[in-house]
Amino acid sequence: MLNFLDYPESMYLAVVEALKCETYPNPKVGAVLLDKDNKLKALGHHKGKGTNHAEIEILNKTNIVSDDTLYVSLEPCFHTDTSPSCADELLDSNLKNIVIGDIDTDLRTNGKSINKLQKAGLNITIIEGVNNFINPNYNKKNLNDSSITYIGKIATSINNKITNNDDTDRYITNSKSLQLTHLLRATVDGILIGKNTLINDNPKLNIRHPSLNSIDIEKYILWGNEETEIRKYAEQHIDKIFITNFDNNMVNVQNIENLSFLNLDKFLKSQKINSLLVEGGNTVHKYFIKSNSYDYFYKFISNNHINNGLSFDLDIDSYLENNLSLNRKIRLNNNSLHIYN
Ligand SMILES: NC(=O)c1ccc[n+]([C@@H]2O[C@H](COP(=O)([O-])OP(=O)(O)OC[C@H]3O[C@@H](n4cnc5c(N)ncnc54)[C@H](OP(=O)(O)O)[C@@H]3O)[C@@H](O)[C@H]2O)c1
Repeated sequence: MLNFLDYPESMYLAVVEALKCETYPNPKVGAVLLDKDNKLKALGHHKGKGTNHAEIEILNKTNIVSDDTLYVSLEPCFHTDTSPSCADELLDSNLKNIVIGDIDTDLRTNGKSINKLQKAGLNITIIEGVNNFINPNYNKKNLNDSSITYIGKIATSINNKITNNDDTDRYITNSKSLQLTHLLRATVDGILIGKNTLINDNPKLNIRHPSLNSIDIEKYILWGNEETEIRKYAEQHIDKIFITNFDNNMVNVQNIENLSFLNLDKFLKSQKINSLLVEGGNTVHKYFIKSNSYDYFYKFISNNHINNGLSFDLDIDSYLENNLSLNRKIRLNNNSLHIYN
């Protein structure tokens, strides 16, 4: 199994486990139990409000012994709600070692479980960023901030090209970067691309991962002003919603007045979108940057040199440097990933 998230292998497994189910309004959480030889003993994930938390799934599936290690993508809950306190349930088991994805920003937990478990003598390790990756909108939700989380994504060559006219292979980055892109798609409610990306690249916009390929996310095309070919493409792509600046009676064409970001954002909220991945080129990213919308930006950089292709707009790079922080740099074999937030 690949470990392309730069997390320990088992936390990667917990991430995939978490992403298997839509659990809104609860966070997606995955857990993995390993024995002392790092052999997998059990997997578990939360399946939605009112059902077992991932840790309880593990407790129900297997007998925990003291040299096992539990990997869980979010701090175990401190409180009892529709489910019991996972911290208490774990204290009642023989568990001694826990690796936690992120502190839970739900104020009912918010570090209290970690304190309690540590005071009881358990070894706790925290790996930051795991829950934020799986549930990009979770911290906002806990702050009662109803705004959509927008995530930008771009792939560039080492010499800053975002299209490849040298080669028939349209991919710029390597298979690890592509795998991570598919995992990223599984974390959001919707994905958006521009008109020319649809016409030139015809991306499937699905999730190609053996455990996650049944996940269906909303797909949006920022189409713009051009009315002539809308019918042809909207008919061919009935699974996608075309965002336009004109009226049209097709069911999957949505007129957004003036194509203003505020109107688009309002429309997406009406569609119950809490997080949107924007796989744009220069025009589309500039549209979102103009409204200062990005919470995260993933820049995948390959080691390939491309002679002929569109260059990544340096204004977007400057925007990222000046308005977000370069939070993590991850090696993906010969590619690198820069995560801004
Ligand atoms: N390397 C990568 O990661 C990557 C990712 C995505 C795309 N690309 C490449 O980059 C190229 C360009 O893609 P792109 O995403 O920049 O955009 P695009 O596919 O060219 O589409 C941009 C669309 O947005 C509309 N639009 C944007 N702002 C608008 C505004 N303010 N008002 C009205 N319409 C607006 C445009 O409509 P109008 O034309 O009517 O103005 C246009 O249809 C693609 O051909 C693709 O091959 C590369």
